Amino acid sequence: MEDKIIETIIGKIGQNDNEIYEKAASILQKGGLVAFPTETVYGLGADALSSQAAKKIYAAKGRPSDNPLIVHIADVEALDKLVKNVSDKAKALMDKFWPGPMTLVFEKSDIVPYDVTGGLETVAVRLPSHETARQLIRRSGCYIAAPSANTSGRPSPTLAEHVIEDLSGKIDMIIADDTVEVGIESTIIDVSTDEILVLRPGFITLDMIREVVGKAELDPAIAGDRSVVGQPKAPGMKYRHYAPKAELKIVQGDKDKVIAYINSQVEALAKDNVRVGIMATDESIDSYSRNNTVIKSLGSRANEADIAKHLYAVLRAFDDEGIGYIFSESFSRNSVGQATMNRLIKAAGHCIVEV
Ligand code: TXA
Ligand code: MG
Repeated sequence: MEDKIIETIIGKIGQNDNEIYEKAASILQKGGLVAFPTETVYGLGADALSSQAAKKIYAAKGRPSDNPLIVHIADVEALDKLVKNVSDKAKALMDKFWPGPMTLVFEKSDIVPYDVTGGLETVAVRLPSHETARQLIRRSGCYIAAPSANTSGRPSPTLAEHVIEDLSGKIDMIIADDTVEVGIESTIIDVSTDEILVLRPGFITLDMIREVVGKAELDPAIAGDRSVVGQPKAPGMKYRHYAPKAELKIVQGDKDKVIAYINSQVEALAKDNVRVGIMATDESIDSYSRNNTVIKSLGSRANEADIAKHLYAVLRAFDDEGIGYIFSESFSRNSVGQATMNRLIKAAGHCIVEV
């Protein structure tokens, strides 16, 4: 595969927005790649009906071709063109959570290329709430296939600078608008059969889904801390995503014990002159040793959404500092915390210490 460098246009929302949307729309219509913000994370968009454009996404990200893309729409009416059946349960979920951070998996229609679905007979569709994303979809007149706009294997981007770091020179345009709210990718729900299955946890939680459709389960292959029960139904969930360059260990237990354990590890590693990263919270940040450490807070434990929002940016920040070891506290699994811990555990390669 050729590896030619292309000039990436960067358009900042807030100045000449009209020109930015026009340029981006024309790039998409010609089969090019445009990164854009959504309420969850930045996406890397291309015309979802073009196999050629989809292939460019895989090449730019270095993404395995069996990992399907999510198709983004701006209006519910567009769904009928992309999918075969919309069940009553799917409709109820759409009424409740669209526009928003929820992706639904349906049986695909014939117009959706297999290059977008990774060869599957199903297609994942999302109707985002982010105004910039919606404008782009509408102006382009395209259905936009968009995975997260990171290099495969790196944390998803929540800031334009993350996208620039990973994809500059590889894609045609980046729309910069740092108003990403959730910070963790959408909840993916399989509605292609009568059994409602959550394939990837997100801001829309299992409890919220059950309130709408009654029975719903988490894909057993991703439910446990150790993914052992078969292959996940979302092909992307089998990869060790969100991996920081450093070795990451999660320390779980009473607050004081966690702090004492991490501080003792820091002391031991400091003897060998190893710099250690610590993922803390506002409540604990002042209790850690400053001996050769970089300490970052994800936010307050009182605000689970805030912790989710900062996770990826903090993982990337540790990478930038060239740290070899990261110790992270464990976080609440309530509400969006379920998704936060799912991502953190994957980033840690399931390495959890109980103290
Ligand atoms: O919040 C999000 O969903 C973001 C923004 C940009 O919308 N997108 C995103 O895309 O996270 P990506 O490609 O990073 O993750 C898509 C996930 C993968 O795990 C993939 O395997 C799964 O969706 N997926 C896509 N199509 C599927 C299908 N037909 N059946 C099962 N899983 C599917
Ligand atoms: Mg991704």
